[in-house]
Amino acid sequence: MNDRGVTAEQERTSRRRLPLPDWPTTRQFLSALSALGITLLVLGLMNIWDFLHAEQSNWLHFANSILLVGGIALIAFTFHVARRDLVAPLTELRHWVNEMHNGNLSARLPKSDQPDFSKLYKDINALAERLESLSLDLQSEVEQQTQRTQQKTHSLEILYDIAANINAANDLEDLLTRFLHTLKDVVDARAGTVRMLTDNGEMQLIASSGLDPEVVKQEKLISIDRCLCGQAAKHGEVYSLDDLTGCGQFAGRPFFESDNIEMIAVPLRYRGKVLGVYNLFTTQHGLVEREDMKDLLTSVGHHLGMAIEKSRLDEEANLLSIMEERTRLANELHDSLAQSLASLKFQVRVLDETLHSGEESALWEELERIENSLDEAYTELRELIAHFRAPMDKRGLIPAVEQAIERFRRNSKISAFLQLEWGKTKLPVEVEMQVLRIIQEALANIRKHSEANAVRVLMRAAPGQDFLVMIEDDGIGIQDKIIEGGPGEHLGLKILAERAARVRGDLKIESESGEGTRVTLTFPMPIEEPENDGTVAVDFPAHQTSKL
Ligand SMILES: Nc1ncnc2c1ncn2[C@@H]1O[C@H](COP(=O)(O)OP(=O)(O)OP(=O)(O)O)[C@@H](O)[C@H]1O
Ligand SMILES: [Mg+2]
Repeated sequence: MNDRGVTAEQERTSRRRLPLPDWPTTRQFLSALSALGITLLVLGLMNIWDFLHAEQSNWLHFANSILLVGGIALIAFTFHVARRDLVAPLTELRHWVNEMHNGNLSARLPKSDQPDFSKLYKDINALAERLESLSLDLQSEVEQQTQRTQQKTHSLEILYDIAANINAANDLEDLLTRFLHTLKDVVDARAGTVRMLTDNGEMQLIASSGLDPEVVKQEKLISIDRCLCGQAAKHGEVYSLDDLTGCGQFAGRPFFESDNIEMIAVPLRYRGKVLGVYNLFTTQHGLVEREDMKDLLTSVGHHLGMAIEKSRLDEEANLLSIMEERTRLANELHDSLAQSLASLKFQVRVLDETLHSGEESALWEELERIENSLDEAYTELRELIAHFRAPMDKRGLIPAVEQAIERFRRNSKISAFLQLEWGKTKLPVEVEMQVLRIIQEALANIRKHSEANAVRVLMRAAPGQDFLVMIEDDGIGIQDKIIEGGPGEHLGLKILAERAARVRGDLKIESESGEGTRVTLTFPMPIEEPENDGTVAVDFPAHQTSKL
């Protein structure tokens, strides 16, 4: 094949088909004949005139005249033959071409007696016949295609309607009600139901429209092995049934007064899994035999299956977020207010002892401490109520930690060191709050359980390393015995772990009897989130140590 895409064979054929010589057209041929005839006529007349006026008969003239007449006769004959064998067939051909051109594909050439044209006419007629049949085939194909396109458009409109209604639904019940109404209208159905498969192989009717309430009651829960719905669910196929007597017997009463109703069962699918079945009860028999309708009902089944699953997932996610929120609230209460109240309880016990000792100045001191603690607890509570946020110092994490350590020192009389290698590191508020809460709970545990003399809190932010927060004491260490408590008790360490997970961190609790306890939190650089109120800014520092 050459670069123009023409094969060698095609080239040879085109070379063999040399252009035909440029023969005169019929009209030119006849004009030439006429001119020849007129010339011969003039010559003949001149000859005759010469013959009549010549003094002596000239036989040559006579012969000329005879030839002339013969020539004229010959021309007349040729003219006649040309008209009959050439002009007439060409006129017929032209007429046929005009007819075809005007769209009359049934036009045919008449039978010709002229042998050359007879064969040509036959071939042309055969071609015309083929063309006509092709055109008819094409026409019917176009008609079918148009019909199919119209059906598809109609199906798409229905699907769009259903999808739009499903998407506008607020909850599952609303979704199913909207679905049944739209579908009933679309296929002009008398009633419709939606059944879901349960875990123990039954089918639960979760929505219905247009059915007798008594029938609905009886149909609430049916076995998957029962009748058509079960088959549709088991095989994932669309089925129809035009005799509902069996269903009526199961339900203990006929579904409808009229017998002329067909039931259609369509599976509800989601990701290849059958979730249930929807039914339509309609007077239009044989709907599912129509390929377009079957496809439409199947697509609707997919749509509804997907919408039901989505609605379920939404509900689950909603429930989960409510539970998460509750856990968060409980954790906040545990790590803030509960600790403050526990500390108050401890202070009241000290007050009691001071009262018994009778030292007035110590009494006033204790009372002032209790008043301060009450103030702090009250502020924490107001903060929690107002914003449900940690009472985080507005200046950031470090001042809040310093404040917590100061309070710890006041309430416990244990010496506390804060070792800061943190610089001007600024983390998102949520992360800072988790870090503060972890330190607060670790300090509360030290105060309550450790019997320690000293505590060290280390906070380190070093380039290219995870953040580190460590709280260690020199107390008795965590005892091995299993601590049991009522609901809401001994939650601190569990919450610590949850908080560490929230900052994608790692929490280690190391303790040996008599050797103290060390709580270590390491966590990576938080991922920046656009909704965070502050960006993560880190400025790595020189060492600073403060004793509180
Ligand atoms: N620093 C510590 N020194 C000694 N024992 C500790 C220390 N921290 C925790 N423990 C022990 O671990 C147990 C569990 O601590 P956790 O914080 O989970 O509960 P809790 O402090 O008893 O109660 P809650 O924190 O719910 O008020 C404590 O009861 C205590 O026995
Ligand atoms: Mg605790």
